[in-house]
Amino acid sequence: MHHHPSRTRRRSAAVLVAAGAALLSAALVAPAGHATPAGGSGGHEHHGHALPYRDATLPTATRVADLLGRMTLQEKVGQMTQAERGDVAADPSLVTTWGLGSLLSGGGSVPDPNTPAAWADMVDTFQRAALQTRLGIPILYGVDSVHGHGNLLSATVFPHNIGLGATRDPRLVRKVGAITAEETRASGPQWTFAPCVCVARDDRWGRTYESFGEDPNLVESMETIIDGLQGKPGQLDQSRHVLATAKHFAGDGLTSYDATKAGTGAYPIDQGVDQVDRATFDRLALAPYWPAVQQHHVGSVMPSFSSVDWTEDGLGNPIKMHANRELITGVLKGAMGFDGLVVSDWQAIRQLPGDYRTQVATSVDAGVDLFMEPYSGSSVGAPDFIATLVGLVQDHTVPMNRIDDAVSRILTAKFELGLFEHPFTDRSHLDDIGSPEHRAVARRAVQESQVLLKNDSGTLPLDADHPVYVAGSNADNIGNQAGGWTLTWQGGSTNVIPGQTILDGIRHADAQVTYSEDAGAPVPAGADGIVVVGETPYAEGFGDVGGPQWAYDPGDHGVPRPAKTMELSDADKAAVAKVCAEAASCTVVVVSGRPVVIDPSLLGQIDALVAAWLPGSEGEGVADVVFGTAGFTGRLPVTWPRSVSQEPINVGDADYDPLYPFGWGLRTEG
Ligand code: GLC
Repeated sequence: MHHHPSRTRRRSAAVLVAAGAALLSAALVAPAGHATPAGGSGGHEHHGHALPYRDATLPTATRVADLLGRMTLQEKVGQMTQAERGDVAADPSLVTTWGLGSLLSGGGSVPDPNTPAAWADMVDTFQRAALQTRLGIPILYGVDSVHGHGNLLSATVFPHNIGLGATRDPRLVRKVGAITAEETRASGPQWTFAPCVCVARDDRWGRTYESFGEDPNLVESMETIIDGLQGKPGQLDQSRHVLATAKHFAGDGLTSYDATKAGTGAYPIDQGVDQVDRATFDRLALAPYWPAVQQHHVGSVMPSFSSVDWTEDGLGNPIKMHANRELITGVLKGAMGFDGLVVSDWQAIRQLPGDYRTQVATSVDAGVDLFMEPYSGSSVGAPDFIATLVGLVQDHTVPMNRIDDAVSRILTAKFELGLFEHPFTDRSHLDDIGSPEHRAVARRAVQESQVLLKNDSGTLPLDADHPVYVAGSNADNIGNQAGGWTLTWQGGSTNVIPGQTILDGIRHADAQVTYSEDAGAPVPAGADGIVVVGETPYAEGFGDVGGPQWAYDPGDHGVPRPAKTMELSDADKAAVAKVCAEAASCTVVVVSGRPVVIDPSLLGQIDALVAAWLPGSEGEGVADVVFGTAGFTGRLPVTWPRSVSQEPINVGDADYDPLYPFGWGLRTEG
């Protein structure tokens, strides 16, 4: 385990000092719940002098202690509350009225038009409302930039994490983080809910593609993305960095598949129960958080929707992570020394036992600091959370020092992001969003993420002077190749973003291309065949094998999506059979968020097989390795099973007999 006593101890000491000072000063100011008079709105001046918390020459801990000491209970609890953009879009003054500490854009919650300038205007509008509060505390604006700023139409969209894991290239992944941060912050948000440091153990999980892989050491090696996102300690205030979030703490990828839920509309595995013993949990779930906290100094952590159940049969008493004080406060904040902020997942506290008051008390006590409590169609939202928690403190159910600890962590992040000095978007990098330079890095990430599983008789690289015949559902569909968390929460086959499809890349490489999605067109004599197959987009439990179908994404025009199976569609299988029977050579490229089953009869017809994962906007990177502009170097980040019935199957298992093992990948010369 890596341990950086200096910074961790200093920041923790600062938090203690801040909390202590706050307790002292809290005793001196007006009783809880009543605003104390202060000079002017926005808390700028007092008898002509800048208040200490406004003085950027003072240490962050001193500024935190000063500000905390001026805050009423109502203001403190407001800082612990995060609403969704949609809750305040029609009336930004609610940000002032509610005294919110933070806002987020959920997946697909975007301004209209969906442009960088409109994003910056949106965030700055909410920020202006925040600065109208008595003490003028700026808001944190969070967004899921999980493969680039995927919600923003013009952003560079990188391969999802499973593809980045296949690169085995920590330096490249840090660069991906840096560009993601620059494009995110340039458009306004100063915080991303990324990276997922989940260790995906059962590929039937709909979030497998958000994982860098099934091995914790591989996941840890990819945490350089945090350095790219945040920069070095002390650089968070620069407008090309954002606060990062290690998620979902912990064991989101260790849940057991519950077959009784398949086909019922519930999630068979997402948000389920980790039925593993504590040693396994430490090794597979907690391990990535030690370096994320102590080596990469991740600024925030998001608990998981999932539960842990240490009993042997897993039928004991599962404890939801959002209620898990021993792990959040004991292990994360205690043993690991995490001094950043813990932000709940989307309405996650409402999954806890008891009524809302109990859920709030339990999760605050467990150590959650900031609460993602959007209305999102429910009757409960930010104001209810605030009133409930204020009441809990007033009746001494929740102690003030827990509130002060949470608020100190939140304020520390805001001071370190430089938001008190520069609350509004620095628009000097707006033009860098989606730039050719950024897209070139994404293209290289696509190249390095491609895994060559099979290459009989050296089929690849293809000769660009030969005619090529292209077919398959995913050859020319940028929505499918980008996957979930792109423009909309679930992504969509009809979502269009700037970029290049795989077919575009093939056309740039080879002058003689015949394209026929269903392989209905005749195959020219001597043509090499490329069939691009795979999955349609999904996110979270909607991607679980046997999970519910997502049916109301705007891009779907009400047409329900296929249930997820980890099998190829009949159309894709037919296209492969047709092309492999008639073309001079037959290459199959699988665009998917996880392995898909290639049964022996199909595999026997295929000359070359490529795992492309979810490449994002720069599909040319796939053609680059298919035609040899670059060599294949990628290696499997997850085991590729022979059948779904082998799941979960992972490196290190006894009787390990996959189709292709973890780490597999043939190489070619570029
Ligand atoms: C979602 C996801 C989480 C995401 C959050 C905000 O439910 O679980 O990963 O960051 O909500 O979109």
